[in-house]
Amino acid sequence: MAIFGKKETLTLPAELPKHVGFIMDGNGRWAKKRGLPRPFGHKEGAKQFKKIVRYCKDIGLQNISFYAFSTENWQRPTDEINTIMELFREYIVDVRNFLSENTRMIFLGDKSAFDDDLQEKMIKLEEDTAHYTEMTLMMAVNYGGRSELAHAARILAQKAVNGEIKPEDINEQSIANELYTKGIPDVDLVIRPSGELRLSNYLIWQCAYAEYYFTDVLWPDFTPAELDKALIEFDRRNRRFGGV
Ligand code: IPE
Ligand code: IPE
Ligand code: MG
Repeated sequence: MAIFGKKETLTLPAELPKHVGFIMDGNGRWAKKRGLPRPFGHKEGAKQFKKIVRYCKDIGLQNISFYAFSTENWQRPTDEINTIMELFREYIVDVRNFLSENTRMIFLGDKSAFDDDLQEKMIKLEEDTAHYTEMTLMMAVNYGGRSELAHAARILAQKAVNGEIKPEDINEQSIANELYTKGIPDVDLVIRPSGELRLSNYLIWQCAYAEYYFTDVLWPDFTPAELDKALIEFDRRNRRFGGV
């Protein structure tokens, strides 16, 4: 009973961020450090992703999103892209085994770039889990923030052409309603491992007032204990949203 003693374990804050966005970066460097080809890093990163998702559910996070593949990542070598797509395919098949009950699943991004069967599976997963309320797990694949905004602009322009809305009806809410994250709270906390200090086109609209947590740890080494550190740091931040 060390009343004045320092606590040995980290205690999580009572209030957790409503939406945590993870930029899963550093897989390639993790492999390189071990003298392995980059795809090994992606395999290890995928394992870590599952661990972190389970942990998020255990601690009661309600909305979590993961940047898995950006619209810019198509520039990478074909074999690396193929490995990522294979992992993605495996994940979709396996997801029901590791997604605990009551988890809603949403894919953020343009699905049309994927094979037809994969698109169907993604849509089915979204439909089958749409009624779950305990946690929402978002996976950003073929996602780019600018592309998402351009997509929303096209939808709104078409509605205006159809006479469903007037240009003056377009406001922040109507734009938010055409994003892939419709109905999901804005990102409160962005976590980016691997030492890079940038957003790389991730949820640029939704992160307008997010807090950022950067760490040099590479994604395959990002453990639940690392997440605890980020949540504690988030709790210490003073968010003002433009006020005083
Ligand atoms: C993140 O890891 C995964 C994807 C972008 C698909 P990287 O592959 O970017 O790893 P680094 O940044 O090269 O180490
Ligand atoms: C961001 O990582 C994309 C994902 C994690 C999926 P990148 O590795 O693609 O970002 P940059 O190129 O370092 O900005
Ligand atoms: Mg990277």
